[in-house]
Amino acid sequence: MLFLSLAVLAGATSGAFAQQIVLDNTFQTHLHPNTESNKWTVFNSTIKRVAVIGAGPAGLQAAATLVAHNFTVRLFDRAPGPGGNWLYSEQVPVRESYPDAPLDKERWLPDTLPATRYYEDGDEGLTLDERWREHWQPRSIWNSLHTNSPAIITELPEVPYPPDHSWVIDAHTIGAHVRAYATIHSLNANDESSVHAYSTRVEKLSKASDGSVWQLTVRNLKRLEESNRIRATWWTEEFDAVVVASGPYDSPHVPEIEGVLQWSQSKAPNPAKHCVYHSRVYRNPERYTGKTVLVVGVGTSGSEIARDIAPFTKKLYASSKEYDWDKLHPFQRRSFRRFPAETEFIPQISSFQPLSSLQNGIQDGQIILVNGTVLSGIDEIILATGYRRVNPFLLSVLGVKDAAELAKPPPTDVFNGAPLKNVHWTGHYIPDPTLAFTTVRPWTAGRYQSYGWAKVWEGTAHIPNEAELWKQYNSSRWNNFRGLFGTGPSEAIVRQYVTWLNNESLEHGGRLVEPWPLENREIFAYYSNLEWEKDYITKQNFTRFENLPAREWSKDNLWDVLVMEDEFW
Ligand SMILES: Cc1cc2nc3c(=O)[nH]c(=O)nc-3n(C[C@H](O)[C@H](O)[C@H](O)COP(=O)(O)OP(=O)(O)OC[C@H]3O[C@@H](n4cnc5c(N)ncnc54)[C@H](O)[C@@H]3O)c2cc1C
Ligand SMILES: *[C@@H]1O[C@H](CO)[C@@H](O)[C@H](O)[C@H]1NC(C)=O
Ligand SMILES: *[C@@H]1O[C@H](CO)[C@@H](O)[C@H](O)[C@H]1NC(C)=O
Ligand SMILES: *[C@@H]1O[C@H](CO)[C@@H](O)[C@H](O)[C@H]1NC(C)=O
Ligand SMILES: *[C@@H]1O[C@H](CO)[C@@H](O)[C@H](O)[C@H]1NC(C)=O
Ligand SMILES: *[C@@H]1O[C@H](CO)[C@@H](O)[C@H](O)[C@H]1NC(C)=O
Ligand SMILES: *[C@@H]1O[C@H](CO)[C@@H](O)[C@H](O)[C@H]1NC(C)=O
Repeated sequence: MLFLSLAVLAGATSGAFAQQIVLDNTFQTHLHPNTESNKWTVFNSTIKRVAVIGAGPAGLQAAATLVAHNFTVRLFDRAPGPGGNWLYSEQVPVRESYPDAPLDKERWLPDTLPATRYYEDGDEGLTLDERWREHWQPRSIWNSLHTNSPAIITELPEVPYPPDHSWVIDAHTIGAHVRAYATIHSLNANDESSVHAYSTRVEKLSKASDGSVWQLTVRNLKRLEESNRIRATWWTEEFDAVVVASGPYDSPHVPEIEGVLQWSQSKAPNPAKHCVYHSRVYRNPERYTGKTVLVVGVGTSGSEIARDIAPFTKKLYASSKEYDWDKLHPFQRRSFRRFPAETEFIPQISSFQPLSSLQNGIQDGQIILVNGTVLSGIDEIILATGYRRVNPFLLSVLGVKDAAELAKPPPTDVFNGAPLKNVHWTGHYIPDPTLAFTTVRPWTAGRYQSYGWAKVWEGTAHIPNEAELWKQYNSSRWNNFRGLFGTGPSEAIVRQYVTWLNNESLEHGGRLVEPWPLENREIFAYYSNLEWEKDYITKQNFTRFENLPAREWSKDNLWDVLVMEDEFW
């Protein structure tokens, strides 16, 4: 296995390699002598070229920070511009797979690289438009979406919202905000720069056979309007370190309910369109006028889309499994409360009965609920059943097993600290800390995480040796730091970063970082108390909300809780 040698590199042999460290900063004289150095992870060669995969709020901060630290940075995003999740488009992703696509499919690559290929409309059964959308994967946000997080914790540094902004921000404004951050760092699509490469998807990440450098194989697509073709170009670039900032909501998850496969193939007559689809294609409510709609899943997307379409629908159902109300995260309880009053909650679906035709929609189809009731007369079914984190480009690094682990939704009890397999709280991949994953809430703690990577890779901060990294990884104390909100319990992660970074800067050089302003916490506490759940940020006492139907909540099959999509909100 590739990482055996690398793991050794990071830990045990670091003393032997200590003399090889080359640091191009002015503080190298403060480095610990060799006798001390085995306490720390020592990189056996200078880290100069760094790739950042993903230009959302997390990746943009990483790229900007690494550029400021004089690394040679390349920022790749499959989308035509920066923004990540917040790059709104009326385009929708190509049809999701039923059942979920297997995890072990690497992307197809030409035999020799670099390579160029031209595609005509209809090649390999794809229209040009489908090929384009398959490549960049339009985002899952809809036109009227507003954040469920207050602006105070949904803000990138240096580009403040106008002083009179509202408590929560609409998705288009968030998108503009993220693009503003990209622009002031010359990372927007129209900035002349050798740093960013948009419409460029990372297809494969692997280590060179001698273990010295990371190799990124990427594919750029360009629409050639004049000749009505698409040009695909593949090439490989080499890096000393890589930041994976490809986001938490990579691939849709569809539930494995009996009969869902056939129902997913059904189309309504004129215009012929699918009646069963994942919530990520939802954009606008008007098409639901006079329709009977079933929303499957009661997470954030389910409840918010239900609110959006309710004024238009004839009848609105929401199917959910049963929950232990007290065990739900406050956000899950909030989602229940946010469903519009006209929603009829129904139990989970046991099966979709066979349809006699695939061309007449699903109106006559029968849906059997777990309590035995038969439901019919549904026009459309929105599967608000969440996401899996499936990144084919990581397969050659993680292997199928760990990639599957990565794709699993976190158990509810680690909601606030969903750890990535083998990833330290700093985001470093323990078997090879030249690879890093964004693991914190990008808006609040992302700035610290990015600065940490720059410092560790330039040599002005240390992470412990491999044994200690694993020890911290295993310890619940440290795991509690993997929080996401930069407040409440996960305020701990920000404090941890501030202490660590400032201590390292005192020792090895570098600027002071300031903690998240206390007054922001006050404002956030006020917001979350009123808007989320009373005492949310104390997380000690969850308030019961009486206005929900009494149910027999069970702990089993929490699938739609698990895919509540809130992991990184
Ligand atoms: C419907 C919805 C509502 C949300 N609402 C909120 C909210 O109210 N508040 C909140 O804080 N968060 C919300 N989120 C969460 C959102 O994920 C975060 O706000 C934030 O965008 C995460 O930032 P990121 O940079 O980690 O990932 P993303 O913003 O997802 O960016 C990841 C980027 O990586 C790129 N990428 C992925 N794979 C590749 C590849 N192979 N090659 C090249 N590029 C690649 C993608 O194109 C994307 O641009 C919401 C998410 C969804 C889906
Ligand atoms: C770094 O370590 C790897 C793996 O042991 C080795 O192949 C490579 O040559 C080393 N590089 C340097 C600069 O020492
Ligand atoms: C980056 O390089 C510039 C120009 O050489 C220098 O002024 C600056 O201090 C460097 N920044 C860091 C963080 O090393
Ligand atoms: C089963 O669920 C449906 C929909 O919520 C409800 O109308 C019906 O009364 C339930 N049946 C039983 C036996 O509980
Ligand atoms: C961490 O936990 C794993 C099992 O989850 C174990 O194999 C390993 O030895 C532990 N390492 C340390 C340093 O505690
Ligand atoms: C601060 O840095 C010193 C020297 O690297 C180290 O020994 C000490 O453990 C650090 N303290 C904290 C709180 O990280
Ligand atoms: C609040 O939480 C604490 C700690 O979990 C618990 O001991 C206490 O009983 C709770 N109080 C109430 C009123 O539920």
